[in-house]
Amino acid sequence: MESEKTRIIAVANEKGGVGKTVTVLNLGAALYREGKTVLIVDIDPQRNATEGMGIEPDEKILTSYDILVNSETIDANEAIIHTQWEGLDIIPSDAELVGADIELYDQDGREEKLQEGLKELTGKYDFILIDTPPSLSLLTVNVFAYADEVLIPCQTHPYSFNALAELFDTIDMIEEEINPGIRITGIIATFFNNRTKVSRNVMEKIQADEKYKDLLFKTKIRINTTIADSAEAGMPVVFYKPGSYGAKDYNDLAEELLQR
Ligand SMILES: Nc1ncnc2c1ncn2[C@@H]1O[C@H](COP(=O)(O)OP(=O)(O)OP(=O)(O)O)[C@@H](O)[C@H]1O
Ligand SMILES: [Mg+2]
Repeated sequence: MESEKTRIIAVANEKGGVGKTVTVLNLGAALYREGKTVLIVDIDPQRNATEGMGIEPDEKILTSYDILVNSETIDANEAIIHTQWEGLDIIPSDAELVGADIELYDQDGREEKLQEGLKELTGKYDFILIDTPPSLSLLTVNVFAYADEVLIPCQTHPYSFNALAELFDTIDMIEEEINPGIRITGIIATFFNNRTKVSRNVMEKIQADEKYKDLLFKTKIRINTTIADSAEAGMPVVFYKPGSYGAKDYNDLAEELLQR
């Protein structure tokens, strides 16, 4: 089934542990439940999204590492793993990605390797969701060069709020230098806990900020321990416990994303 327009979305934040991977997995699962075709691309050497879909390390399979280092010759279709949910696919990651930065460093067009390697996939899916590592490396720059949109999970914690400014600067720089078409689709409040003052305060700060307030999704992702359990089970919480708060929040987020 061909898709009219593939939305290529990076889920990014240089800060670690803010819910990037959980967002990629569950937004992917929730969009799939809405009848959309989705490809998840794991560009993080930590392999959390790959493991979160229950995929074990295997030397024989192609990964995003192969896409980056053999971008001119590889057929990206061969790196796609079909999951038990038909129409929800993944290109897994490999720990070798740690070295890709250095391998690509002195190559021409080093920022455009991912775009080159994945170009034949445009039009094949409704959504391509990309999980990124918590750093601004050449890996993340490759993702920003390829993506049309960025989703920013922001933990409802003061440090995360302060880090937003830097991330916005980074994306401005990418827009000027590398990818004029990139835009920030939204900020997702994560780890929200209505009972803590710090969580409520950070929400109020985002809502009051001229730069951020229109980008903030109405849906807040609440703290939900079932999310951690689902990682252990190797599947998104949206499938693991469809009745949980975690699943509900990500289903709501998917509906909101479809409107943007
Ligand atoms: N809403 C939530 N409620 C409870 N736990 C969560 C929630 N979201 C994520 N977690 C857990 O918090 C941890 C960090 O989440 P996640 O891996 O998605 O962050 P990340 O931004 O991808 O981290 P990294 O920067 O290391 O890639 C994980 O153990 C995950 O299971
Ligand atoms: Mg992650």
